[in-house]
Amino acid sequence: MLSGTNEITQERAAKAMASFLRTMISADSKFDRERIGEYTFTPLEDAGFNLFITEGGMNANTGQPWGGADCFHCHGHGGMQMGDYLMHNNGLDQHFFNDPGLAAITGNPLDSGRFKTPSLRNIELTAPYMHDGRFTDLHGVFLHYNSGGVVSTTIDPFMEGAGGGLFLDDLDELALIAFLKTLTDTSFVNNPAFSDPFN
Ligand code: HEC
Repeated sequence: MLSGTNEITQERAAKAMASFLRTMISADSKFDRERIGEYTFTPLEDAGFNLFITEGGMNANTGQPWGGADCFHCHGHGGMQMGDYLMHNNGLDQHFFNDPGLAAITGNPLDSGRFKTPSLRNIELTAPYMHDGRFTDLHGVFLHYNSGGVVSTTIDPFMEGAGGGLFLDDLDELALIAFLKTLTDTSFVNNPAFSDPFN
């Protein structure tokens, strides 16, 4: 129970919403169950997972592609959150007329095109993608990253395919998307506690 008065203030409303949001924990996807040994990835999902956690772009030492999709640097799986929540420029645009990203807040040109890296949990269900919804499906997202993204002065060093691409093929795309779909947590998205209270 709240102590004190019944007064509704901005701060109390924010705290109430924050408390509710903190109850929204998605941890029962195929990916989560695989991590604790309760699910085995299909060969395709497994191939996608390996792409996700492998370096991408050209290996300067060998002159050969690394062969991975290089997603883990920013959507790292280590913390299981599938996003580092840090500000990165993932190569969407060269000029940032419509939305300069973090630079709109800081006024620092070095922040142009930098956006917060979101979690990829339940990503299958949340199209369209990116801050402006420019990609209608995961195929569009794949094409973007496989191209290496748009090179600009602030593109993130973790965009390892910048300038050359990731060199992934159609089968790699199938695998990567199959893996991304293992992040769908049906018990989370069907939990009545998170449904529309007025329906
Ligand atoms: C340099 C860091 C970085 C790398 C590497 C990276 N991403 Fe992202 N990703 C981001 C950022 C930042 C955003 C948010 C961009 C925005 O809001 O416009 C994002 C957004 C996304 C989105 C859309 C999320 C949404 O809810 O709209 C998907 C899907 C995605 N990334 C998948 C991937 C995949 C798959 C890979 C590997 C092929 C990858 N990312 C590699 C930083 C990165």
